Formats: sequence, structure tokens, C-alpha cells
Amino acid sequence: MGCGAGKQCFSYYHALEGDADITGTDVSESLLAQAREENKKVNNAINFQQLDFNQPFDLPSDSFDLVSACFAIYYAQDIPFTLSEMHRVLKPGGRLMVSDLVLLRDLPADLKESIEAYVGCIAGALPITQYETGLGDAGFTDVTITRTITVGDAVHSAIIKATKPANG
Ligand SMILES: C[S@@+](CC[C@H](N)C(=O)[O-])C[C@H]1O[C@@H](n2cnc3c(N)ncnc32)[C@H](O)[C@@H]1O
Repeated sequence: MGCGAGKQCFSYYHALEGDADITGTDVSESLLAQAREENKKVNNAINFQQLDFNQPFDLPSDSFDLVSACFAIYYAQDIPFTLSEMHRVLKPGGRLMVSDLVLLRDLPADLKESIEAYVGCIAGALPITQYETGLGDAGFTDVTITRTITVGDAVHSAIIKATKPANG
């Protein structure tokens, strides 16, 4: 989700040697057009469709083994809603993997309002606690948040993993 021109979709496709049904989604029709162009090289094996984090997902419930979003979920305006939609479309036992910037504490107002920081993902980064509570409230278990690179004071990139319990 938030796949842009499809980079992660093609990585998954090649890593799994084509043995998976992959759907790539993004809000941007122009990036999806680029993804569809690249998709021709793999015989249109990947399904690309438009999806806005801020609207109900046009995807069936209980249908995916894995939902992933790399450096995109900070565009969600209502993170509990987006996480609950991600939970809905996962199969019981399915997994969520999100990479994003997370904040250990609030940003100063001037940085939050900076366009440059927004484009660089920092202004949209969520406090780590919003993930912890949001994932739990959405019904996810086995939540791990692994900090990877320190981007700046109190800002880290992180890999967030969670599971939809097998009993739903
Ligand atoms: C930094 S790019 C990351 C793209 C891709 N995941 C990658 O790593 O190359 C962020 C992506 O989020 C998408 N995006 C922005 N707002 C969105 C929204 N409301 N719903 C879904 N995707 C959105 C953008 O179009 C863009 O493709």
C-alpha cells in the first residue's frame, strides 16, 4: 500500500519467483500508470489499483496474507482508521509490515509545519505510542517496533510488524 511506482511489489514478485498474487495500491494515478508500465515486463502479473489510506479500502475482508507499506503510511490522516482497514483485509493469521519514520517525542511546531520536513517524511511521522495503541486497538497482536536508522533528534526509521490473530 502506498506502493508508488511499484518498487516493493516487483521486489516481492521476484523474491517469490512469481508464486504469489500481489496487489499494489497507491492514491496517485500517475505513479500507478508508471507501475503498470513496468508491470508489462512481468506479463502484468501484479494487480495495481487505486487506494486512499483515508477512505474505506476497495478490497475484500480476510483476503491477504501480508499487507505492507513502506514510507507511505504517514499520509494517513486517521491512523486508527487506516490500521483497522489494513486489519480488515488481512486473513486471520495474516501479517502487517510497515516501515516508516517514528517519533520518540513531539516535534517542535516549526518543524511540523515545514514543507521540506513533510516531503522528507519527518513532519508526517507519528509518535511511536500512536502505533502501539493504534495497532492494539485495531486488533493486532505480536506487535514489534524495531528502530533502525536514527534520522535526527528523536526521529528514527522503524520496521513495524504485527499479526492479525488466527481467530480474527
Ligand atoms: C515516499 S513514497 C513511497 C513509495 C514506495 N512505497 C517506495 O518505497 O518507493 C509515498 C507514497 O505514498 C503515496 N500516498 C500519498 N498519500 C496517500 C494516501 N492518502 N493513500 C495512499 N497512498 C498515498 C504516494 O503517492 C507515494 O507513492
